[in-house]
Amino acid sequence: MGDQAKFSVGGKDVDCAVMKGSVGPDVIDIRKLYGQTGMFTFDPGFTSTASCESALTFIDGEEGVLLHRGYPIGQLAEQSSFMEVCYLLLNGELPSKDELEQFDYTISRHTMVHEQLATFYRGFRRDAHPMAIMCGVVGALSAFYHDSTDIADPLQRRIASHRLIAKMPTIAAMAYKYSIGQPFLYPDNSLSYTGNFLRMTFGVPAEEYEVLPAVEKAMDRIFILHADHEQNASTSTVRLAGSSGANPFACIAAGIACLWGPAHGGANEAALEMLREIGTPDRIPHYIERAKDKDDPFRLMGFGHRVYKNYDPRATVMQSTVREVFDAMKVTDPLFETALRLEEIALNDPYFIEKKLFPNVDFYSGIILSAIGFPTTMFTVLFALARTVGWVAQWNEMISDPGQKIGRPRQLYTGPVQRDYVPVDQR
Ligand code: SDX
Repeated sequence: MGDQAKFSVGGKDVDCAVMKGSVGPDVIDIRKLYGQTGMFTFDPGFTSTASCESALTFIDGEEGVLLHRGYPIGQLAEQSSFMEVCYLLLNGELPSKDELEQFDYTISRHTMVHEQLATFYRGFRRDAHPMAIMCGVVGALSAFYHDSTDIADPLQRRIASHRLIAKMPTIAAMAYKYSIGQPFLYPDNSLSYTGNFLRMTFGVPAEEYEVLPAVEKAMDRIFILHADHEQNASTSTVRLAGSSGANPFACIAAGIACLWGPAHGGANEAALEMLREIGTPDRIPHYIERAKDKDDPFRLMGFGHRVYKNYDPRATVMQSTVREVFDAMKVTDPLFETALRLEEIALNDPYFIEKKLFPNVDFYSGIILSAIGFPTTMFTVLFALARTVGWVAQWNEMISDPGQKIGRPRQLYTGPVQRDYVPVDQR
C-alpha cells in the first residue's frame, strides 16, 4: 500500500491515497472524499488542485524549469524547430529525420483553408480585433470538417489535430491581412511552416517576399516558447470543453477565447502597451509604486505567474532573442532599454522579491513581435497559433484516457435556502 493521507472531519476518519508522478509534487487522491465525508474541497483558482494526469509538460516553478516530454525548453529553443516540438508533444518522442520530414509534409498538405471560410472574414468590420476573428473563424471550422469530428476515432483525432496545427498560421495571417485591407495570400508549401506564415502575413501579390532567415529562426523559436505550458487557464478550458465530447475545433475556439484575457495570453499585448505608456526609464518608479498600490488596479503586465516563483525560462530566451531580431531587422526600440531597466528595478524591490514576481513569457515578446512588424493586436493571435499544438496534444491525451469523465465541479452554496413563491400582489 502506498502512502496515505489520513485526517478526520465531521467526526469521520478519512483515508486518501497519495499518488506519485515521475517528478514534482505528489497528489492526494480525493475522488472518494465526498462519498466518505459529504464534503467538497474548496479551491476556486485551482491553486492546490491537480485536474489530471499528464505526460506532456512539467514545470518546476520554484526552480524555473520547463520540460516538454522531458526536454528542457532552453535546449529545444536553441536546437529544435517548432515542427519538431509539435511532433514531440503529439507523439512523446523526438522524430527521426524521416519521421520529421513526413510530419512536415503532412502538416504542409493541410495549410489551405476551405475557400468558403474566406467569406467569414467579410462579415467582420475591418477594425475587428484579430482575436475576435480567430474565435469566430476557428469555431466555424467545425462546420467544414465533418470527416474529422468523431473524437472516438483516433485517426479522425489525428487528422483534426494536423488540420488545426496547419491552418492556424493561414487563419492568423488572413486575420491580419483583413484588418489592413490587403488581399489574402495562399500558403506556399515550398517554405517552412514559419516561413510560410511570415510570407502570408507580410507578403503581397505584387512582389516576391523574401523570408529573412534570422527572423524566421526567431519567429520559430517564439512559437516553440509558446507551444505548451501544463494546465494553464486556456488548456484547462480546452480540456473541460473536450470532456463533454465537443469536437476539437470547438474546443480550440474555447481555448482561444480564454487565452485572450489580459491576465493570460492577452498580457503580451498589454505589456507592450504598458511599456509604451511608461515611455522612458525616468517614469518607471511611478509605475512601480502604482503596481504596489493595493487600491490601484494597475499591475506590471508581463510580470508574475501562478506557477513560476522564479524567472520564467521562456523570458530568458525571449530577452536574448530581442537583439537578434533588432540586428536582423536593422531596427532598435528604446522600449527595450525601458523594459530592461524596469526588470532591474522591480527585481530589486522588496515587494516583488517578497511576492516572487519575475518577468514571464509575455514581458519581452511584444518588443520582438513589434520589431518584426506585427501590430500589438496580433500578439495574442501569435500566442494562440503556437499554443494550438499544446491544446490539441492535451486534448488528445485527455480523450484517449480510458478513465476520462466529463468535468463537472461542485460549489460552496451561499445563496438563500428554500423559500416559497409570493404572488406579486402580496409583496
Ligand atoms: C501567461 O498559467 C500559465 O502557465 C500561463 C502562461 C502560459 O504559458 O499558458 O504562462 C501564460 O498567462 C503568463 C502570465 C501573463 N499575465 C500577466 O503578465 C499579467 C500580470 N500578472 C498577474 O496578473 C498575475 O501575476 C498572474 C495572473 C499571472 C498570476 O496571478 P496569481 O497566481 O493569481 O497571483 P495573484 O494575482 O494572487 O498575485 C499574488 C500577489 C498579489 O498580491 P497580494 O494580493 O498577495 O497582496 O502578487 C501580486 C498580487 O497583487 N501581483 C502583482 C502582479 N502579479 C501578482 N502585483 C503587481 N504586478 C503584477 N504583475
